[in-house]
Order: sequence, then C-alpha cells, then structure tokens
Amino acid sequence: MTNLLGGRAAIVTGAGRGLGRAYARDLAAAGASVVVNDVDVAEARSVVDEITSAGGSAIVSAHDVSDPDAADALIATCVTAFGGLDGLVNNAGLYHEAQPWDERPAAMRRAVLVNVLGAMQCQAAASAVMRERGGGAIVNASSGGMFGFPSVSTYAATKGALAALTYSSALDLEAAGIRVNAISPMALTRMTENALGRGLAPSTKDAPPLAGIDDMRPEAVAPLVTFLLSDLAEGITGQFFRFDGRKVSVVTTNPFADHPNTSADDWTPRTMAAAFTGPLAAHLQPYGVERRLPPRQRATTR
Ligand SMILES: NC(=O)c1ccc[n+]([C@@H]2O[C@H](COP(=O)([O-])OP(=O)(O)OC[C@H]3O[C@@H](n4cnc5c(N)ncnc54)[C@H](O)[C@@H]3O)[C@@H](O)[C@H]2O)c1
Repeated sequence: MTNLLGGRAAIVTGAGRGLGRAYARDLAAAGASVVVNDVDVAEARSVVDEITSAGGSAIVSAHDVSDPDAADALIATCVTAFGGLDGLVNNAGLYHEAQPWDERPAAMRRAVLVNVLGAMQCQAAASAVMRERGGGAIVNASSGGMFGFPSVSTYAATKGALAALTYSSALDLEAAGIRVNAISPMALTRMTENALGRGLAPSTKDAPPLAGIDDMRPEAVAPLVTFLLSDLAEGITGQFFRFDGRKVSVVTTNPFADHPNTSADDWTPRTMAAAFTGPLAAHLQPYGVERRLPPRQRATTR
C-alpha cells in the first residue's frame, strides 16, 4: 500500500472485472477509498473482498450507469460512504460488433446509453460534487477503435464521443480544478477475448489490430489511471493517452492544428475537385487501424 491517494475517494464504473477491476485494486492500494461499481454485482462484490482483505477500503455499487437516476445515485453513494468524491473513472462499457448494414436500433441504442450517456451522466453528477469541493480528476475510457476498426462502427462511435466529451469538458472544468483525460487502454479481458474469439482482428501485415494482446494485462495498465487521479498529474488535462501496459503514447488529433490546406473565395464543387487533384492531392490520410490509404491515394502512390 502506498499513500498516494490517502484520504481520497474514487469511483470506478464497470469495475467487477477486466480493466475496471485492475483500476479499482490499484487505486485502493494507493490509499483511495473506492466505490466498485458494476451491474454484475457478484463480480463487484468479489473485487471489494479482494480490496478489503488486502487492507484497503471499498464498497459495492450495483448501479446501472445507463440509467440517469442510478448514475446520480452512484455518485451520491460515494459521497455518503466516504464523505466526498475526488476521482471518477468512467470505465463501464459494452462491446458491440455488427456490419453497418446489419445494425439494429436496440443494440445501437444500448451501446450509446451505456458507453456515452452513462459516462456523461456520471461525469455531470461527479463534476457538480467536485466543483463544490474545489477539484477532482476524471478519466474517460475511450478506445483506439474510434480511429477505425473493422466491424465495430457503433462501438467506435461511442468511444469517439468519449474523446470529444473529454476535450470539451476539460476546457469547462479547468477553472474548477477538475482535470479530465481520456485513455485508450489495451489489455486481455473478457471484451478483447470476445473480439479475438469471433475472429475479429484480421491480421494485416502492417498492423494486426490486437497484436500482442495476449501479453497485455489489465494490472499493467492501471498505474496510468492511478497517476491521472493523483496530484502527480497536476496540470495534465484535456489529454488522450494510449497505453498497453508498456508503451504510453500521447494521442495527437487536434484538427485545429496546421493541416494541409488550401483557400479560395466562392468555392464550387468543381473548384473543390480541383483542390483534391491539385494542392491537396498528396495529402489524403491513411485511415483505420491498418492505416489504409483511400483508393485514390493508393492509385497515385503505386
Ligand atoms: N480491453 C481493452 O483492450 C480495451 C480497449 C479499448 C477500450 N477499452 C474500454 O475499457 C473499458 C473496460 O473494458 P474491459 O475490456 O475491461 O471490458 P469488460 O467487458 O471485461 O468489463 C466491462 C465491465 O463493465 C460492466 N458494465 C457494463 N455495462 C454496465 C453498466 N450499464 N453499468 C455498470 N457497469 C456496466 C460489465 O458488467 C463489465 O464488468 C470499456 O469501456 C472498454 O470499451 C478496453
């Protein structure tokens, strides 16, 4: 046990297994009192048992974050039990695979409700408490999937929403002393085992999507979250980090940076076309996990 987070209270959603379990255990080992939230209450209870038998402090929450009232109640549970709330890890997530033409409204809606609205509602309720108390830290679980991964367009969209949520709310919450960061973790869990089991992750020579994941452990990813919730991360907000337990990367995606561009007055579709055969022709970007060039770019680079 360290005392890095001594006297602090934190919530980890979806902490009954996988990455959330590892985050909760690591935060508790750093001295935080932790609300271990999961709709799978038996799993959450066993994580609380693991933490308390190791001398840590934790309680169970079975709240379903996709229900706004339950999300509010989850935040209130932490305040009531531990006298406040200093850290929130929006980790609960549903994985969803479908080809775009096979998508069904109920499954899409469920993914958005849990992954996006669940995190938004927890962040809303938590930031109100943290603002009142003078500060805090929030970590949102995004995914490299948001940059393009085959067969998961809905899941990827929900994870892109969390990156957008992070960037904008970090701006709004900085003055209140609340830091908000997003992470793209990589580890072998039920979620990634399911993806591998279904034969997702087609290996391309250049970038097999889940290459090496067999050796990536949730426990190895947890120190990034504990760091981000601690004062050691003071001054770090509005960031997106990718971490597989070994390599930690700062994801750079700001569209307001100085990208290849050209300007004109009175654009028409034809002058737009000329821009893409002229000054912008060489600048179309590879996309997705395999960094695939758009067909036009493939033709010109042959
Ligand atoms: N494992 C990876 O490599 C990876 C990669 C990118 C992103 N992520 C993200 O990290 C997070 C954790 O992933 P994991 O691999 O540990 O997944 P997991 O499926 O092993 O665990 C997710 C947990 O969330 C819980 N949960 C689901 N819906 C909930 C709800 N409505 N309310 C409360 N709890 C709920 C589940 O019961 C489960 O215990 C997810 O948001 C996932 O999208 C994981």
